[in-house]
Amino acid sequence: MEFFDYFTNLFGERWPVLLESLKGEGRATELRFGEGLEPYYLDEASVFAARALGVRPGDSVLDMCAAPGGKTLVIASMLAGEGFLQSNDRSPDRRLRLSHVIENSLPADWRKVVTVSGYDGVKFGLHRKESFDRILLDAPCSSDRHVLNAPEHLKVWSVKRVKRLAVEQGGLLASAIDALKPGGTLVYGTCALSPVENDDVVKRILKKRPAMRVEPLESLPEGADRTECGVHILPDRCNGCGPIYCARLVKE
Ligand SMILES: C[S@@+](CC[C@H](N)C(=O)[O-])C[C@H]1O[C@@H](n2cnc3c(N)ncnc32)[C@H](O)[C@@H]1O
Repeated sequence: MEFFDYFTNLFGERWPVLLESLKGEGRATELRFGEGLEPYYLDEASVFAARALGVRPGDSVLDMCAAPGGKTLVIASMLAGEGFLQSNDRSPDRRLRLSHVIENSLPADWRKVVTVSGYDGVKFGLHRKESFDRILLDAPCSSDRHVLNAPEHLKVWSVKRVKRLAVEQGGLLASAIDALKPGGTLVYGTCALSPVENDDVVKRILKKRPAMRVEPLESLPEGADRTECGVHILPDRCNGCGPIYCARLVKE
């Protein structure tokens, strides 16, 4: 099958072990921000990606593709009620879940600085030029762990789809960069396995947006792989966490 051949070529001898780890349970950590609030369970690698944005109280932040909202919770906890967070997602159904998560898992004084919106992410660069101190782009991707464990999705997986997603990711990343203030920080992330959706997207945009540079990530989770532009957290070496790719970019 195309999926298995593609990743065998990519990961070589590592693939059988990685494959087994992808079939296993993920490793979630409990996010609970107070008595009487709903806990939210989020992969530890996702927590790392959201924290890598380095949000400080007072920042204006865009979470461009935010639903169902795990990383928005992490960002809101870093703002701790000071600043502004726009949690955006184009999908109406997923946005409902996002609003529910914000309503039920965040304390009222942290929630008051969070706004939910439903714009197409590619529009931010045009309509909100240089508006945000920090932007998280957790891009729509192949979601390979999910695909692997869902036969109906595995059947429609293709290299062509990976390439199509990479084009979409590039458009969203260009928009995010344009919406970032000079001096601002952006984290680009996916849960894809292929570099086509990860480093390659970042490398392409660096050529088109010369004001951007990669800022290396520190305090990586144990076992994480450094890549040319960022880090790849994969479950075979990271205790079941991931897959999560993320790269941090700053605008000069
Ligand atoms: C990987 S998920 C985000 C997960 C989320 N960050 C979290 O931590 O829970 C990607 C999201 O992007 C949204 N999306 C896809 N294309 C979009 C677009 N053009 N503009 C805004 N959101 C988009 C999808 O609806 C989906 O919810």
